[in-house]
Amino acid sequence: MKTYLEQYKPGENVEEFFLVKSAVIRTANSGNRYGDLVLADKTGEMAGKIWDLNQEVLPVISALAEREIVKVRGTVTEWNGTRQLKILRIRLRREEDCLELSDFIKAAPFSGEEMYQRVMGFVESIKDTDYMMIAMSLLTEYKEKLLYFPAAMRHHHAELGGLLYHILRMLENAQAMCGVYGFLNRDLLLCGVMLHDIAKLEEIDADRFGMAQAYTFEGQMLGHIIQGIKIVDRAAAELKLPEEKRIMLEHMLLSHHYEPEYGSPKKPLFPEAEILHYLDLIDARVYDMELALKNTEPGSFSEKVFTMDNRRLYKAKEKEE
Ligand SMILES: [Fe+2]
Ligand SMILES: [Fe+2]
Repeated sequence: MKTYLEQYKPGENVEEFFLVKSAVIRTANSGNRYGDLVLADKTGEMAGKIWDLNQEVLPVISALAEREIVKVRGTVTEWNGTRQLKILRIRLRREEDCLELSDFIKAAPFSGEEMYQRVMGFVESIKDTDYMMIAMSLLTEYKEKLLYFPAAMRHHHAELGGLLYHILRMLENAQAMCGVYGFLNRDLLLCGVMLHDIAKLEEIDADRFGMAQAYTFEGQMLGHIIQGIKIVDRAAAELKLPEEKRIMLEHMLLSHHYEPEYGSPKKPLFPEAEILHYLDLIDARVYDMELALKNTEPGSFSEKVFTMDNRRLYKAKEKEE
């Protein structure tokens, strides 16, 4: 199936299935009513407008619920520098269309269950029983949410299974770094990676499709660093972790954003904490770069990347064979 919303250009005709993220009927200044939709696929989203609410269209829009899949026919137009779809026809998906919701949801490249098993493989490789126990206990407690949660509201890893994907890639990088810097405490570093963003599960409200809705009240007020320290503190008390290990782990959570303006009141005070910060940064940056370059033509520059100080990234020309 071809649904590449990102690639449609103004003037192009579209006849395609999309996921409806929202659908409302609004009244324009002129008094005319129109349908205002947000359509999405794996690659992005676009506003869709239905200017002619005729008898054929009106019942469809009125009955539309979020997460519904529709087939639309229309033309891509541009308004205020943003593309939108002028919808001429719309219908709900039919059974014979054989479409799955997952075909339209932006998702990590592996299933939640597969990534979870791989992360648990790392947990089992931790030799220090205290670090192993706390990682095992919290990843087990939060398993259900971990399987689908995104890693962020917007930007890096804001997708189905994004948080686990982020943790997994950081673990793989951490593993490689321990091979280079043999003096590192691998158990502590791995445990810190596993738990550094665990409280995102309580900071953000997300649905089963990995779409973040909003920050929770506690998330808004405290943020995942402080929430994470509360979680580790509670689990460490239950498991009777020695004080030094608990505090070192908490310090890793506390310092992983590095700068006070990003929520860390202290900078890392030992190598594993310093490395955790950079592993986190690298994984977020590489994710954003990979995504921006995916929809860029070889030999040209990407759109501005907001998370990278609005840099426009360059995609190399394809190699000649
Ligand atoms: Fe974080
Ligand atoms: Fe992170």
